[in-house]
Amino acid sequence: MYNYRMVTDDLYWVGADEHRLALFENIHPLYHGVSYNAYVLLDEKTVLFDTADWAVGRQFIANVKAVLNGRPLDYLVINHVEPDHAASIEEILLRWPQVKIITTPKAVTLLNQFGFGLDPNAIEEVAEGDTKCFGKHTVAFVYAPMVHWPEAMVTFDTTNGVLFSADAFGSFRSLDGKLFADEFDFDREWIDDARRYYTNIVGKYGPQVVALLNKAANIVGLDNIKYLCPLHGPVWRKDLGYIIDKYTHWATYEPEEKGVMIVYASMYGNTEAAAEVLAAKLTARGVTNTRLYDVSSTHVSYLISDLFKYSHLVLASVTYNLGIFPPMHNFLMDMKALNLQKRTVAIMGSGSWAPRSGALMKEEIERLKNMTVLDEEMTVTSSLKADNESEIDALADAIAASVKGETK
Ligand code: FEO
Repeated sequence: MYNYRMVTDDLYWVGADEHRLALFENIHPLYHGVSYNAYVLLDEKTVLFDTADWAVGRQFIANVKAVLNGRPLDYLVINHVEPDHAASIEEILLRWPQVKIITTPKAVTLLNQFGFGLDPNAIEEVAEGDTKCFGKHTVAFVYAPMVHWPEAMVTFDTTNGVLFSADAFGSFRSLDGKLFADEFDFDREWIDDARRYYTNIVGKYGPQVVALLNKAANIVGLDNIKYLCPLHGPVWRKDLGYIIDKYTHWATYEPEEKGVMIVYASMYGNTEAAAEVLAAKLTARGVTNTRLYDVSSTHVSYLISDLFKYSHLVLASVTYNLGIFPPMHNFLMDMKALNLQKRTVAIMGSGSWAPRSGALMKEEIERLKNMTVLDEEMTVTSSLKADNESEIDALADAIAASVKGETK
């Protein structure tokens, strides 16, 4: 049974939800599913924008067939070839063998690498800024290299202001019968999934996202964009400024909020207890926008996501094999991989006979760009005791002053 939704009077969402996938890209946990979006335009020519993961291939094909309602499929525009979107191309070619593929030269190379065996005569390669008229609708193709793959492009329909934005403006979470971001309370129900998607999947490529946003502003004009149609998550038709503002923060690594994220690594609960004391002392100083995480029991994708949100980070880690506790080390490596910048960091090391984690964490943070490490570090020797109160007070004072903008 088909299950499509209308986006405009002649544009249809033909994607599908995936609820059974445990790990997106076999690494990021999905507790609320994900959608794979594709769109069909019914003009004088019929146009399919991207396909879908094969896990939802049957539903996707049923939707395309239902929308076409017996018409041939004339064009397939491929904005992004990652298999969660391109896996069903072969099925489209089998069912509509006359379809012409419109995509970038780099996408053709990658599609051949994936073994799709495309007929070169069926491909129309497009260059940056090329346009194509399908009847009433004329679209423009805008390259989006490294957002977050090299071949990516976005397609802008100049007739109705629809931007097919590939993975940009995408989100984790299945749609579950909704389609538009205004059909639920996005800021309450979805923003965390959108942030976790962006930061972990695209976060490394902030400069490229900024370049795309600038291109969209200069070539298309942000005011001319009336719909954002990403490859995952809801379609935006209202309050586009909200999600563009979020993207601007994330892409420039500017925190969304003044707040403190405390991430601790603790083997027997002593470093955890010290982190709790610090959290209470921050609250006592009026810093209440705080989050406390056990690095061992929180998937790193959630830590990265909140790190893009908050301005301040406290790293509290036990020493392990004379190094940083492995899950904390993994978190630090992920920060580096994702190009995290512009945060103020406080360090709390701990250990029983050779506590080295504090110095080592500081070294890792100082390898990142534009990071500030507070001078008031401390080391917990086995457990926090009353003797350490002045030290942890000094640490809390320094963090609170920084959050309130009283110091750096
Ligand atoms: Fe959703 Fe880059 O694929």
